Amino acid sequence: MSTIEQRKITVVGAGFVGMTCAQRCAQRELAAEIVLIDVLEGRAQGIALDLCQAAAIDGFGSRVTGTNNPADTAGSDLFIVTAGMPRKPGMSRSDLLEVNGRIMGEVAEYIRDFSPEAHVIVVSNPLDIMVFLMRAKTGFPSKRVVGMAGVLDSARFSWFIAEATGTSVIDVDAMVLGAHGDSMVPMEHFCTVNGVSVSNLVDRERLDAMVERTRKGGGEIVNLLKTGSAFYAPASGAVAMASSILCDEKRLLPSACYLNGEYGIEGVYTGVPAILGKNGVERIVELPLDTEARIGLQKTVGEIQKDLDALRDLGLL
Ligand code: LAC
Repeated sequence: MSTIEQRKITVVGAGFVGMTCAQRCAQRELAAEIVLIDVLEGRAQGIALDLCQAAAIDGFGSRVTGTNNPADTAGSDLFIVTAGMPRKPGMSRSDLLEVNGRIMGEVAEYIRDFSPEAHVIVVSNPLDIMVFLMRAKTGFPSKRVVGMAGVLDSARFSWFIAEATGTSVIDVDAMVLGAHGDSMVPMEHFCTVNGVSVSNLVDRERLDAMVERTRKGGGEIVNLLKTGSAFYAPASGAVAMASSILCDEKRLLPSACYLNGEYGIEGVYTGVPAILGKNGVERIVELPLDTEARIGLQKTVGEIQKDLDALRDLGLL
């Protein structure tokens, strides 16, 4: 028997990531009410109707509605924000700064006005910058505004490790810190296959190749799809974080969090391991870093700061 809590989730953006998030939230019955909002007339409504009809077959009880009206999102407990343009082949995530920055500003305004107590999970790119903007524009406490990237990047690393070692991906634990971009910091010392360090299972050369492939993991899929970017794993990542917050699961998930001195970093959002529960980011876990990881993290923060400056120059921050 399903027990659907009287919760409301809004998914912003009915592109591939958004529609997959809405589907997963509904199938997992994370909320009684799931709102999908998009600027395109009819798109969110059509997907919502299709999902409600799927419920008749799959037997989930969440009710999904589609809308173009921000007022319909009022009183949401949690937002998953996927709105914005995806990359095209050859583009970096930073190329999306201006167009997605403007969208983020508008979305933040209605989240703040209609759902002042909500948690927000940002998925839009460039991730570390968009989540910073979301927090700045909503004025919400930083523990209620978090970005999804580390779960995705770690999942990619996990899959490459599983493939290379011939093991089940469910036994693989991987950890990726830093920005969601080429400067991310895969933490190979924290990667294990059921407790066995990955360095015991593959040689240096293959490990380096996997690290490099993880850094470029999003681009690899953009190049294959040609007209969009990944959506299954990004949606899985966002919904895992939503579930941990809404159901107070206290999962330790790599998440883009606002750093206030942790890891010696101040005043930016970037990927770190965090415990997510009913209060949002309940704890940022500080891992011991070797010199390489420390330098990697400094480099990633430098890249983020460059993009934040560009956003300021555009008058968007
Ligand atoms: C990716 C996009 C969603 O990494 O950033 O696939």
